[in-house]
Amino acid sequence: NSQDLDVQATLDQICGLLQENYAHYDWVGFYFRNGKKEELKLKSFAGSPTDHNIIAFGKGICGQVAVSNQNFVVPDVKAQENYIACSINVKSEIVIPLFAEGENIGQIDIDSHQIDAFTKEDEQLLTEINTMISQFLQKEKALPIFA
Ligand code: SME
Repeated sequence: NSQDLDVQATLDQICGLLQENYAHYDWVGFYFRNGKKEELKLKSFAGSPTDHNIIAFGKGICGQVAVSNQNFVVPDVKAQENYIACSINVKSEIVIPLFAEGENIGQIDIDSHQIDAFTKEDEQLLTEINTMISQFLQKEKALPIFA
C-alpha cells in the first residue's frame, strides 16, 4: 500500500544518506521485529546485500540487542563470540535499539571497514535518528512494520 511505500522510501533515504555522508559507515540497515516471532527482519539497507535478512532473537549482535534493549558498540568484531559475519571486510559494528511506546521494535545496524570506528557521537546521532523514525512511524500509523 501507499503508506508502506512512504515508510520504505523514508527508511531507504535515511540509510543512503548516512552511508554516503559518513565515511566510516559502510553498511547501514534497519531491522524490525518480524510480527510476533522472536526474530528480526531486514526492512531497509544501504551497502552490499546481506544473506542475513532474518536474525533470531539472541543471535549475533543484532539478536542480542533485540533482547537486551541496550546499545551495543563492537570495536573489534573478531573479539565477539556471538557474532554473525556479513562480510569479511567488516571490522567494527554499532547497533542501537529503536523504541516505540516503550517497546523495543527494531534497530539500526551499522558496519564499518575500520577497526574501532564508532564513538559516543555516533551513539548520540543514531539514538536521535531512531527517536525521529519512531515518531514518524507512530504518526504514519505504520506499526507494526511486519504484521
Ligand atoms: N553482524 C550482525 C549481523 C547483521 S550484518 O552486520 C548486516 C550481527 O552480528 O548481528
